[in-house]
This record gives sequence, C-alpha cells and structure tokens, in this order.
Amino acid sequence: MERVYIFDTTLRDGEQSPGVSLNVKEKVQIAKQLVRLGVDVIEAGFPVASPGDFAAVAEIARSVKGVQVCALARANFGDIDKAWEALKEAEEPRIHTFIATSDIHLQYKLRMSREQVLEAAREAVQRAKGYTPIVEFSAEDASRSELDFLCQVLAAAIEAGATVVNIPDTVGYAVPEEFGEFIRAIREKTPGIEKVTISVHCHNDLGLAVANTLAAVRNGARQAEVTINGIGERAGNAALEELVMALYARRPLYQITTGIRTEEIFRTSKLVSSLTGMPVQPNKAIVGKNAFAHESGIHQDGVLKERTTYEIIDPKVIGIPQSSLVLGKHSGRHAFKTRLAELGYALSEEELNDAFARFKELCDRKKVITDEDLLALVEEEIRKVPPTYELKYFHILSGTTVVPTATVGLQVGEEVREEAACGNGPVDAIYKSIDKITGMKPTLETYAIDAVTGGKDAVGSVTVRVKSEKGKTYLGRGLSTDVLEASARAYIDALNKMVADLNGPGSRPESEAGS
Ligand code: KIV
Ligand code: ZN
Repeated sequence: MERVYIFDTTLRDGEQSPGVSLNVKEKVQIAKQLVRLGVDVIEAGFPVASPGDFAAVAEIARSVKGVQVCALARANFGDIDKAWEALKEAEEPRIHTFIATSDIHLQYKLRMSREQVLEAAREAVQRAKGYTPIVEFSAEDASRSELDFLCQVLAAAIEAGATVVNIPDTVGYAVPEEFGEFIRAIREKTPGIEKVTISVHCHNDLGLAVANTLAAVRNGARQAEVTINGIGERAGNAALEELVMALYARRPLYQITTGIRTEEIFRTSKLVSSLTGMPVQPNKAIVGKNAFAHESGIHQDGVLKERTTYEIIDPKVIGIPQSSLVLGKHSGRHAFKTRLAELGYALSEEELNDAFARFKELCDRKKVITDEDLLALVEEEIRKVPPTYELKYFHILSGTTVVPTATVGLQVGEEVREEAACGNGPVDAIYKSIDKITGMKPTLETYAIDAVTGGKDAVGSVTVRVKSEKGKTYLGRGLSTDVLEASARAYIDALNKMVADLNGPGSRPESEAGS
C-alpha cells in the first residue's frame, strides 16, 4: 500500500487559533506525544514570529527525536536564517518557506509582481537548501491562484531544490471535486513534480478541510498537513484524527496507509485540548464525547448484538480507555504508577509524587477513580509550572440572602498570606481575594466549567483564560470535586504561569518584581 506522510502543524497553525498560547514546556510535551502518535513531521513553530516561538522550536529540535522537525519561514533570508538557527540541532531538520501566489495576495498584501514572487520563491528555496537537504515550499493561497502561474512558481521551487511542494487552501474556499482536479492539473503541468512530494494544507472555513485533503490524496498528494482536533487559524485545519481514520476505515477504497499509531489518537486529542484550553465539541468526529455514544434504543440494541451494526470504528482502535473502574483509596503508589504507564504516561519522580498526593486527596472525595479522572489529574500535573502561589485553604459565605464573601489563604514562599473579599458570586469573591494577595490586576477573559466524568461526585474541571496587565493571555486549569476549589486552582495556575513567564518559574510576583 502507498503511504501518505502526516505533517502535523498543531504547534504552528494550531497555535494560531485565537486565544491559544502554549509555553515551551507544553509544546515539548505535545511534540513528544506526536512522536508516540507516529507523525512523520512536526511543524514546531515560526521562529521569527517571537522569541517564545524561537525558543520552542529550538527546544523541540534539541530534545525531540525520531521525527522530522520543521520550522516555518517567509520567503526572505532573515526568516530562513532564523528558522535554521532554531532548527540546527534537530535530527532531521526541515525548513518550510512560503510565499503567496494568488493575484489578490500579490496585489493587496505583498504588493509584488508575479516576476518578483517567482524570484523570491527561487531564492528562498536556494537559501534554505544551503542549510538542509529537506526543504518544503508552499504557495500560499494556491487554491485561488491562476493555475499556470502557480505551476511556474512550483517548477522554480523544485528546480531550486525543494523536496516537498505544498498546495494550501489557505482560506478554505475549495470544494472536494474541484480541489482534487486542481491537484491533478498541477501534477500534469508542473515540470519536475514527479521528483518531489506533493503536499496539501486545507483550512476548514466551509467545513471541507478533511474532504478536500482526501480528494487531493486520491489525486496524488502524498503529504497531508493536519492538526490535532482540527485546531488552527479561524475555523481550523484538517483534523489529523479524521483524515487518518477515514483512510483507515475506507482502506479498500483509498489503498493508502499512514504511519499513525491509531491507539494514541484519543490521548493526543485530550492532551492538546487540555493544554490549549480548546474544548472538543461533543459531536466531533472520532474524538468527541458522543462519537461512540449510542442514545436510541434501536441503536443500543443493535450494538449489543453486534458492534458493527452501528459502529464503523472500534473505539479501542483510537485508544479510548476501556475500563471504567480503575483505582480507589486502597490503591498504592505502585498500582497508580502502573496504571499511568498503561495509559502511556511516564512521569518524573517529582511529578509522580505530586500526582499521587492529588490522587489520594481525590480518593477521599470520590469512591471510584476512572481513567478519565487519572488522565485529567496527570495532565494537570504536567502543565504545572513551579508555583509562586499555592492554595492553602479557602472559606466561602454564600447564599441567596447574603453577599458572597471569600477568605483565601495562599502559600507564598515561606509564609501563608490571607485576604478576604466580597464579590457578585463565590467565584468572583475568591478571585478578588486572590488578587488582593498577589497585588496583580489581571482580567478574567473566559471561565469554563466541565465535568470530567458523569455522576454526582464527578471531578469538576475549570479552565480560565486570564490576561495580564501587559496584555498577554495565560491559561489556567484546576480540578476538584468541589467546583469552587477547582475555580481557585485554575485561577492560581494561570497566575503562576504569568509570573513564571515574566520573572522565571517560582519567582516573585509581577507587582513585587524589582521592588
Ligand atoms: O494556510 C496557509 O497557507 C499556511 C501556509 C503558511 C502553509 O498556513
Ligand atoms: Zn494554514
């Protein structure tokens, strides 16, 4: 069977999703999981975009092995040199350089002539080729470009040494039949194209990103650029899990395979959702909560008699945890560690100790700890930065006839600091008390609450997005069977990230720095 190479751009295009901002540790965590998933290429970032992007690409290049690591660069020497600087320690570095080819982009955005674009593409590829043998060239907005000019630019890029040419549907305008035909026409009209890999990169503005990618694959594309959960600019990119499982479920039709270890899909989806703070919609194909849930009696009856009556994919294949009853309060550290290893997590000693302590706390409040609880707990541990603030205690006075009032105690270094405040609800009162202690004045941009599992004793998961006085956004997540505690933990988590970002991990708060 022929193979389609999976180019994952969760850490680059995915990170361009509004409101998403991952730190270096989180990006490395995702990159390592992408290696376990079996992607062929990780696009780690756009080094020239910010020092944070540069640092993340450099760290991934240094520490993530067994995969090609790619960095994005516009078609200019400054971007390409910076991309190489970040990539140079990678086992297999790839530079991905791009320039737009549609008239609309040339006229309004680039203000360049076709000749200038052609030359810039050629020179950019040559420059990148001087650094690494694996060079990808993208013709941005290719699907709205004039075919002959597009083929001319691609031919120039190939002649200059590109090994992969990418045809993006940048604005998600294409429809499958047309896009498939477009790829076929490019194959027919571009000199030298048989020597390189044809790639596609489809956006989801019309909800057709995966369908367009599949149409391209049928017409000869052999690299697909995708993201986990389909996150990305605007309506997102083609979802890795949907593309891979479509090829898997319809193997006889496509006769195409990938290198993806499908049993890692569910875990990867959870990790990306948790670290980006972008929830997965319940009816999302493959990884949504309802993707394998059967509500109607007829369907339930059918599935009980024979799973394939209403299921085209066995949930085991994508790694959905099968056991529901896992651990409880009598479980020891060894059982805890073993179950985590079965779920694919290898924590450091310190992370394991902290996660086990949290597990024991949880056992006091919840009889049965499910795999989903465990995954949530571990992800909370992995995401943590060395804390500047730790929740010691809180008390709440609330009800229909009193002004909600909170008292909060935070461990800050050696001392426990306490403050009280009133608010328009208990969460507001808690957050105001915390603000008094930290002296910071962040803005709470979003607050979301979810239950990790069902049942009255379910673990509540709170995700907040908090903006610093300097305008940067931080994500915080907190877990507890008590939603007020989860709310406090989420807020403190975001503040710890803010302080770590501004002053270094575990350091003094923003308001005190330099005093
Ligand atoms: O959507 C797009 O065109 C891109 C390119 C940089 C590949 O993301
Ligand atoms: Zn894109």
